[in-house]
This record gives sequence, structure tokens and C-alpha cells, in this order.
Amino acid sequence: MKSLLFSRFLLLLPWVLIVIIVLDIDSSRAPLPARVPSGGGAGRGEPRSSAARPPPQRRPEAALPTIYAITPTYSRPVQKAELTRLANTFRQVARLHWILVEDAAARSELVTRFVAGAGLPCTHLHVPTPRRYKRPGLPRATEQRNAGLAWLRQRHQHLPPPQPGVLFFADDDNTYSLELFQEMRTTRKVSVWPVGLVGGRRYERPVVENGKVVGWYTGWRADRPFAIDMAGFAVSLQVILSHPKAVFKRRGSQPGMQESDFLKQITTVEELEPKANNCTKVLVWHTRTEKVNLANEPKYHLDTVTIEV
Ligand code: UGA
Ligand code: MN
Repeated sequence: MKSLLFSRFLLLLPWVLIVIIVLDIDSSRAPLPARVPSGGGAGRGEPRSSAARPPPQRRPEAALPTIYAITPTYSRPVQKAELTRLANTFRQVARLHWILVEDAAARSELVTRFVAGAGLPCTHLHVPTPRRYKRPGLPRATEQRNAGLAWLRQRHQHLPPPQPGVLFFADDDNTYSLELFQEMRTTRKVSVWPVGLVGGRRYERPVVENGKVVGWYTGWRADRPFAIDMAGFAVSLQVILSHPKAVFKRRGSQPGMQESDFLKQITTVEELEPKANNCTKVLVWHTRTEKVNLANEPKYHLDTVTIEV
């Protein structure tokens, strides 16, 4: 009887040992924290808890020029949706400072709340477009872009150089690839690239020969000195600071000419730096959001709650 029990014990022993070893391996793996991929937008926004792993190597990011994105925006049913899409993109870009300029007499509650929760460095400005300029056929967002430029110049005038930075005009309804920001980050003076879905064509682009811009592929007003959309160029902060009078002008300006009127104050076509593989890749799209159908919206508030949309 005793020997039977003993032989059973011997038979089971290796199996028990295997189970113990497997359980031990499993439990030693479990407590390892999930690794957050480094780079990209990680590390911005709220500081991470100090109990986490030691600070990652920040030096490469610290050396990056800041990208300042000036976004004019105005109140309409789709505004919060547009800003949400934009913030979701910008949040993934390292060292991006968002200058959001409301076309309004005062900061709105909606945008103020939005900025507070956006999770990226933001400056929230406002300036109303004078009523006489709020007409179809007239250029939009002139005053707002100028307010952004004035803020940028004021912020930097007392700081010692070098202040590596790049300025980009980011309308709130366009679509921006993350690669675009890598391209514009190396702007030395003024850089340019193609823009998709604009000018009545699938895309417009600067024509490049031997690394220099020599003309424009466009289907609309080819006589423009810089036949490029607002989304098609970036300017270094140094150029903005060394041309303190360069602004967007209302006087004499026609739709589609704002870009040319601004660019000719700060650069020449020969000087432009082609990006996006010699201007052969579309990394930004001039998308436009359809006007929403609110035909069934009640005249008076009917719901039992009030919701910000
Ligand atoms: C095109 C260009 O892409 C714009 O850069 C240019 O400002 C505009 O034409 C123009 O006509 O001036 P488009 O799509 O027609 O763009 O213009 P929107 O996207 O309606 O407006 C451009 C920016 O100005 C947007 O960020 C928009 O939110 C803002 N905006 C528009 C205002 O701040 N106030 C307005 O009354 C209208
Ligand atoms: Mn637009």
C-alpha cells in the first residue's frame, strides 16, 4: 500500500513542478508596465506622474523649432467638430503651439472651454471682422491672421535669438497629414508644397526644376505671383521678425490674392524652398465641410437638457 502511494507521488511530482514553474513565469511578467511609445506628442500636455520611468531623452525634441499654427475660426454649427479634428492632429505633433484666433468681439465660452481641454499649448485670441468685410467674394480671416502675427512678434521681440520657429496658417476646415509637419519644420526662410483639392483641380503645386520653384501648376488665376493656397507654405519665425510690417491687407486685396500679397512682402519665387519631395506629394487637403442641415431644429428649446455641440 505504502509503495503504491509513493509511486503515485513520484508520477505526479514532475507535473506539479511544471505547473509551479509556469505560474511563476506568468506572474513575473504581469507587473511590467505597458510601454508608452516615445517620440511624437508624448510628454506634452499634463506632466506625467513622476513615479513613471525616468524622463526620456528630451534633447532631440528640445532642439526642434517650434511650429506656430495660426488658425482663424468663427462660430457656426460645425465649429467644435472642426476644432476637434484639428486638435486631434496637432496633439500628435511635437512642439506645436496653436494660436487660435476667434472672429468675434469676445472670446466665446465654447472655444475657451475647448482650448482648456485641448491638451496642447494654445494661445486664444479674438478680433472681429468689421461688418463691411463680411461679404461673399471678400477675403476671409485677414484680421485674425494679423492678430496672430502681432502676438507672435510681440512675444519674441524681447527674447534673445536664436528662437527657432516656423509659422504656418492652418485654416480650421483643412486636413493635415502628420508628415506635413516634419516637412515644414526644416523651413529656413519660406517653404512651399502642393495642396490637394483646390483651385478647381485635384491639386495645385509649385513646379520645381533643379530644386528651385520655376512656376505653378494650377487651374485658377495662373497670373497670381504665388499661385498657392494659404495651406501651401510656411515661414520661419526669423523672417516674420525681420519683416515686422508684413501683414495681410484689406485694401485692394482680392480673393485668392491674399497669399501672393503676403508672400511678396517677405520673399521671392526664386528663394522658395520646395518640400514634399520637390513638391510631388500632397500632404494637406483643402477640404471644405458641408453646411449642416438644421431644417428640423425647433425654434425654441425643446429638450430637457442644454447640450454644447
Ligand atoms: C480659401 C483659402 O483656403 C483661405 O485660406 C482663405 O482665407 C479664403 O479662401 C478666403 O477667401 O479668404 P475657404 O475654404 O474658401 O478658403 O475659406 P474658409 O475655410 O471658409 O475660411 C478660411 C479660414 O477663415 C477658416 O479657418 C475659417 O474658420 C476662417 N473664417 C472664415 C473666419 O474666421 N471668419 C469668417 O467669417 C469666415
Ligand atoms: Mn476652408
